[in-house]
Amino acid sequence: SDRVVLGPLVGSIDQGTSSTRFLVFNAKTAELLSHHQVEIKQKFPKEGWVEQDPKEILQSVYECVEKTCEKLNQLNIDITNIKAVGVSNQRETTVVWDKTTGEPLYNAIVWLDLRTQPTVERLLKIIPGQNKSFFKTKTGLPLSTYFSAVKLRWLLDNVEEIRQAVRDGRAMFGTIDSWLIWSLTGGKNGGVHCTDVTNASRTMLFNIHSLEWDSELCHFFDVPMEILPKVRSSSEIYGLMKSGALTGVPISGCLGDQSAALVGQMCFKDGQAKNTYGTGCFLLCNTGQKPILSEHGLLTTVAYKLGRDKPVCYALEGSVAIAGAVVRWLRDNLGIVKSSSEVEKLAAEVGTSYGCYFVPAFSGLYAPYWEPSARGIICGLTQFTNKNHIAFAALEAVCFQTREILDAMNKDCGIPLSELQVDGGMTNNKILMQLQADILCIQVESEYRYARWKKAVMKSMGWEISEPQANGDSSIFSSLPLGFYIVSSMIMLIGAKYISGIDK
Ligand code: G3P
Repeated sequence: SDRVVLGPLVGSIDQGTSSTRFLVFNAKTAELLSHHQVEIKQKFPKEGWVEQDPKEILQSVYECVEKTCEKLNQLNIDITNIKAVGVSNQRETTVVWDKTTGEPLYNAIVWLDLRTQPTVERLLKIIPGQNKSFFKTKTGLPLSTYFSAVKLRWLLDNVEEIRQAVRDGRAMFGTIDSWLIWSLTGGKNGGVHCTDVTNASRTMLFNIHSLEWDSELCHFFDVPMEILPKVRSSSEIYGLMKSGALTGVPISGCLGDQSAALVGQMCFKDGQAKNTYGTGCFLLCNTGQKPILSEHGLLTTVAYKLGRDKPVCYALEGSVAIAGAVVRWLRDNLGIVKSSSEVEKLAAEVGTSYGCYFVPAFSGLYAPYWEPSARGIICGLTQFTNKNHIAFAALEAVCFQTREILDAMNKDCGIPLSELQVDGGMTNNKILMQLQADILCIQVESEYRYARWKKAVMKSMGWEISEPQANGDSSIFSSLPLGFYIVSSMIMLIGAKYISGIDK
């Protein structure tokens, strides 16, 4: 039968902590054409440890790409129209692999992992004044188990194979974006070892002002600089897909997932903010071209740099470690629900926690406390308390944590936020969203703003974004202006997080 003619399409890889997705959009209308999602296993080998298998992550990306392409074929949509692919990813999660074999040398240490608590304590002792904010001016971050530098330090201290690979010049370090881009662009046969500025800004080895790896920080964490990826902007052609259904398609966008959500919510102006309810919960507020240092426990992070010659924008970020993960815990550890979506039903049946409070500090407390030794608690239990109340308290916990972040953000910014854009899987939960609005006392905007987004995309397709410098790879796409790729990568990244609320 006849092929559907749609013009250029763009694909978006969204590799999150809980799942991987691939989504394909019509580049001109921004319409979502097809997508596929695969859940990712988490391993908890010891108390506080959280690992994932880098090969399973890579495999899940291939599976999502192949399945989405199959679905497009069934819709009679020609996949050769997919002109560019972007990557958005869980941040900080650390992988070290062997560039000669292409094999990971250890499991990925996930951002939530707490094994580096003793490493943090040891390093703190040699910092002047034992001040965990000592490197904040340079990195925007406090010393914490959360960021990649200490995870990499742990790997170098504890895994002899990694030390040997470093000595032999075979080791490569990367966050998930680097691992994926290197593997997808050929791996041991010439894969491109790079990361983007947003992901780099979460390692604690990166100077967020000069946008370079920092030799003083690398020296402090005793990390060999030669294993670090090259830092690129968030929107440029890094390399071409080397296998599978999309062989030959350029990878032209890369943003840490929380930055992708900020872009997706079109928070391009100073003071615009969004909150994403994924595994964790992350409130980011765009502060423009000026990095603002928080005085209330928030992080300063690179928001995006959409092109090599484009300016860098920064954000203030409030990170909450456990949001959707508490629902997964109710499912997997307590077994009080069979699927995540049942939590809403359970909570709705009672409409109150009946004085029960749940502090899900499974991985310590992140912003604004940065207290790795904190642990979870459920309190206020009575004879009357049942699983419904606990489910309700779990949802309230997500909202209370966001309230603390919002309070800190308002103090740092001076002008209180009057409305909050939200996205992520949990925003499907109406009870949660209503509770959130009640607890924040401001409007929570969880509407799927496809129409607004579509308009913006159409506008940008009018080539309002100036064309960047051509690079080596662009010649083979001479039939399309390079500006297309810049716009495309924005669309994909927008898409990746934007639709996250519709399919979980
Ligand atoms: O910093 C961690 C964050 O990027 C994880 O995002 O969506 O997997 O909860 P998510």
